[in-house]
Amino acid sequence: MHGFGDVRFFDRFARAYDFVMPSARRAPLREGLALAERDVERVVDLGGGTGRAVRALDVDRPLVVDASRGMLRRAVAHGLDAAQADAATLPLRDGTVDAVIVVDALHHVPDRQAALAEAARALADGGVLVVRDFDPGTLLGRLLVSSERVMGMDSTFDGPDALARLVADAGLDAAVLDRGFGYTVAGVKRGSQ
Ligand SMILES: C[S@@+](CC[C@H](N)C(=O)[O-])C[C@H]1O[C@@H](n2cnc3c(N)ncnc32)[C@H](O)[C@@H]1O
Repeated sequence: MHGFGDVRFFDRFARAYDFVMPSARRAPLREGLALAERDVERVVDLGGGTGRAVRALDVDRPLVVDASRGMLRRAVAHGLDAAQADAATLPLRDGTVDAVIVVDALHHVPDRQAALAEAARALADGGVLVVRDFDPGTLLGRLLVSSERVMGMDSTFDGPDALARLVADAGLDAAVLDRGFGYTVAGVKRGSQ
């Protein structure tokens, strides 16, 4: 696994994470999941850390996948199923998942294209990928980019349109759902008809 400076940061920060972070916003995630063209039962929270995002949703037995053992320990303490993996090599069989959410995490992943391709591979036809991230073109986004640089992180931020293109490149029907400092992009997997 490479580029794991950010993951080491989250390993160290894991115990404090849930105390300092506000709850994840449920509405944009729900809006994204509603685009699925199948029942949404098997949900993966990718780069899910302590499971903060998926805990904001009403999902039965989600799986949190993350590279940080420390963050996953917290997810397990919350009663969630967890698997340690790099987002670019998911331990999931093809077409076995109804939805993948990636919240505040994709900008930390060194190979974002590989991670999106893996999410698309794991989705069943009609399944949906929902990504929430931060727009580096906004004022707050610029501040965040600088702060993460100062903290020594290797993060790379895409704006909503650039991310929608990456999601489309992964073979999904992509759409920007909302814009702002935090924004949402979704991609639906449409099987070959
Ligand atoms: C800011 S936290 C977000 C966690 C969670 N999604 C949330 O909304 O609270 C970023 C997460 O991305 C994870 N991460 C960073 N690089 C990763 C990679 N290559 N593969 C999997 N997870 C990664 C970190 O370990 C961390 O848990």
